[in-house]
Amino acid sequence: MRTQVGIVGAGPAGLLLSHLLHLEGIESVVVETRSREYVEHRVRAGVLEHGPVELLKQAGVGARLVREGLQHHGIELRFGGRGHRIDFPSLTGGRSITVYGQQEVVKDLIRARLAADGRILFEAGALGVDGVDSSAPLVRYRQGDHEGELSCDFVAGCDGSHGICRGAIPAGALTVYEKEYPFAWLGILAAASPSTEELIYAYHERGFALHSMRSPQIGRLYVQVRPDETLDGWPDERIWSELQARLALEGWSLTEGPILEKGITAMRSSVVEPIQYGRLFLAGDAAHIVPATGAKGLNLAVADVRVLAEALAAWYRHGRTDLLERYSATCLRRVWRAEHFSWWMTSMLHRFEGDGAFEQRLQLAQLRYVCGSRAAATTLAENYVGLESV
Ligand code: APR
Ligand code: PHB
Repeated sequence: MRTQVGIVGAGPAGLLLSHLLHLEGIESVVVETRSREYVEHRVRAGVLEHGPVELLKQAGVGARLVREGLQHHGIELRFGGRGHRIDFPSLTGGRSITVYGQQEVVKDLIRARLAADGRILFEAGALGVDGVDSSAPLVRYRQGDHEGELSCDFVAGCDGSHGICRGAIPAGALTVYEKEYPFAWLGILAAASPSTEELIYAYHERGFALHSMRSPQIGRLYVQVRPDETLDGWPDERIWSELQARLALEGWSLTEGPILEKGITAMRSSVVEPIQYGRLFLAGDAAHIVPATGAKGLNLAVADVRVLAEALAAWYRHGRTDLLERYSATCLRRVWRAEHFSWWMTSMLHRFEGDGAFEQRLQLAQLRYVCGSRAAATTLAENYVGLESV
């Protein structure tokens, strides 16, 4: 099989890239190891910055997002028995964020691609990428008993943190920067109406907790757990009692409901440099991971493929190579800003084992500063809604 751009992975990065290329008249084929059903129901992130929302709308895939997404104008930081609201519009020139599940973005993009006769090969796992330093790279894949080859002009590695594309860059050409955090998040999806309209980030002596949501009927909540914990140790009652304890506030109550789904996510940061080698371009989680505290993973994936689609369009339309050559450096500036913001939020809000009273007082001093100083609150707000330029 032959196409212009071979895309590995039908997550938000791969699908949006395929859609944006289509709008530029560039053909692509997406190879995805999982089924359509699986990727459309995988519960992941859910916060979209202002910029990605505008991009999805302009690209004609934002109708349901506008209808069903929940626009949020602030978040609450809860600590020391009080809630403190960070108001986004007044600190960022009118910007806000939209809560809309990643799998809903994926559903909208798959529908748009298939309606335009886009080719997505589901249950087709890429085995390897060859010839990335030639002008005719190749994606080898297996779909059922069939082994196929996709020859293309360029390969986009959008295959997430466990993908194979990164492995096609020679070890000597690649540097990996990594940080593991000494905790994980246990997340639930519950048939429980949100107890407040906005997200609540709670700093508590028992550990961090987050109150988020997916719709007016469905809550999404998280508690910090030890990194080696499994779901066996967390029956539903224990999850609710930890959430109750960590989110507790006088005059406020947390609504409980049946837990529909639960999972544990490690908290780590990782960046590979460069994110391009020859004709292979990495995007999204294949290139970088952030801890979930800053809600940046999905937004970075969107930012990468926007840059990549523009660079590929300039190459196909005008033979320009400069944007492709700058792809890695352009994306990495935003990536490192988001890495810093995510690390900063994570460090400020979690309980670190081994920390004593001194470190906890530093965290509280920082939280009070963020809530009490307009300058500090602006730092949080402008990063949270997404910086226009970095
Ligand atoms: N062949 C084909 N597809 C693959 C392969 C492979 N060898 N390996 C992985 N994949 C697929 C995965 O099944 C997944 O559907 O690549 C896709 C990668 O999608 P995501 O993990 O969603 O990554 P990305 O599109 O970069 O989106 C980043 O994902 O982790 C979340 O919260 C994070 O919101 C962020 C977003
Ligand atoms: C979510 O709703 O899943 C969510 C929200 C904010 C975060 C992380 C996850 O910081």
